[in-house]
Amino acid sequence: MLHSNQFGNNFLWGVTIAAAQNEGAYNAYGRGTSIWDQFSKRKGKIKNNAKPYIACDFYHRYKDDLLLVKALGFKVFRFSISWSRILPEGVGKINKEGVLFYHKVIDECLQLNIIPFITLYHWDLPQALENEGGWASHQLIKWFSKFVTICAEEYGDKVKNWIILNEPMGFTSLGYMLGKHAPGKTNMVTFLSAIHNAVLAQAEGGRIIRHYVANATIGTTFSCSEVIANSDKQQDIAAANRMDILLNRLFIEPALGMNYPNADFAFMDKLHLHTKAWKYTERMRFDFDFIGIQNYFPITIKHSSIIPFIQATDIKAKTRKVPYTALGWEINADSFYRIIQKFAAYENVKSIIITENGACFKDELKQGIIDDKDRILYFEKYLNSLLNAKMDGLKVDGYFAWTLMDNFEWNEGYNARFGLIYVDFLTQLRTIKNSGYWWRSFLTN
Ligand code: BGC
Repeated sequence: MLHSNQFGNNFLWGVTIAAAQNEGAYNAYGRGTSIWDQFSKRKGKIKNNAKPYIACDFYHRYKDDLLLVKALGFKVFRFSISWSRILPEGVGKINKEGVLFYHKVIDECLQLNIIPFITLYHWDLPQALENEGGWASHQLIKWFSKFVTICAEEYGDKVKNWIILNEPMGFTSLGYMLGKHAPGKTNMVTFLSAIHNAVLAQAEGGRIIRHYVANATIGTTFSCSEVIANSDKQQDIAAANRMDILLNRLFIEPALGMNYPNADFAFMDKLHLHTKAWKYTERMRFDFDFIGIQNYFPITIKHSSIIPFIQATDIKAKTRKVPYTALGWEINADSFYRIIQKFAAYENVKSIIITENGACFKDELKQGIIDDKDRILYFEKYLNSLLNAKMDGLKVDGYFAWTLMDNFEWNEGYNARFGLIYVDFLTQLRTIKNSGYWWRSFLTN
């Protein structure tokens, strides 16, 4: 039987949540509107027109929820700070009540002997800043720096583990190019600017934390997916390579001082040109203590001439008749090993933490029990690969499960359940799933 002690005593086991997905209390206690509050008002953007207004009501229930983190045996609690709770207008006046809320969450963690990991940005930009151009505005760095400085000064004495951004590829592409996430934009120039500002922000945020927080451990997270070419044909291999650049290399390489990937790829030429990237190698670099990698699935790619720029398309797991989750994401633990290997191969990566991994299934509550066998199997397989990676000497030092409890899953609304704890969104009743109990026995003796 797999057990956490096989990973050594110092391995960090954690669980992750995010402000916009869990907190609720969206218009109370001085909080300003975020882009997700606004986006959810647009008909048809979110399944069942769901709103993030109440979510899991973590704002009022954090004490009980942290007791659950403790009960399941996790040592680390990763959560994010809602920018518009601290600065309702994004800049300017500080909301003291918002600042106090995170002090209370942090104090509660420390009291319970749980290590708090703060994520500074998990996708919920203040709407007031979006009105000024959001991530595509070159003022973004100035705004973000203010926000980070406030957080560092407030919480830096108590919190030593900091994550600057959550998945910049996620929020720039889905939010500023594909229009599927807030703020729902679909514009190439906006996308290019958002990428560059996110790359600069991840490094600048790191420098600010380093300056204000003594003995900080600083990381940032990257989404990643192993990209597999559908065939040996030159066209498919080239398509997979382009996708790999976008999904896996675009944000980490500038952080490591390598600037944006240089490749025979029109999109990258546009990016280099639009951002005058050659001027920024140093400003885009930061010496992170660890990188967070967030992996859910690999993708299989073939050439497609009708898709602009990338000229590639993925072949769904269902079509390929391989196992997949309720969101259609391929389940493939060997690929998890290989993606860790890929990121560990960068010379300047000092340490890797898997800051998110988990699975969505159709959970059914039957007589007070959620027997989510599929999710348990998923974790068993992925953790087995993780153990192999660790044993093979890859520099992986922690793993955080996504997620503590079912929550607001962005444009999927409340129907896509990833939690170790089931949430009835009408009553806010929490029920530990069998996968939650599985984690408890995996983590405790
Ligand atoms: C995000 C989470 C999200 C999860 C599952 C990650 O990309 O960071 O916020 O809920 O994936 O989709």
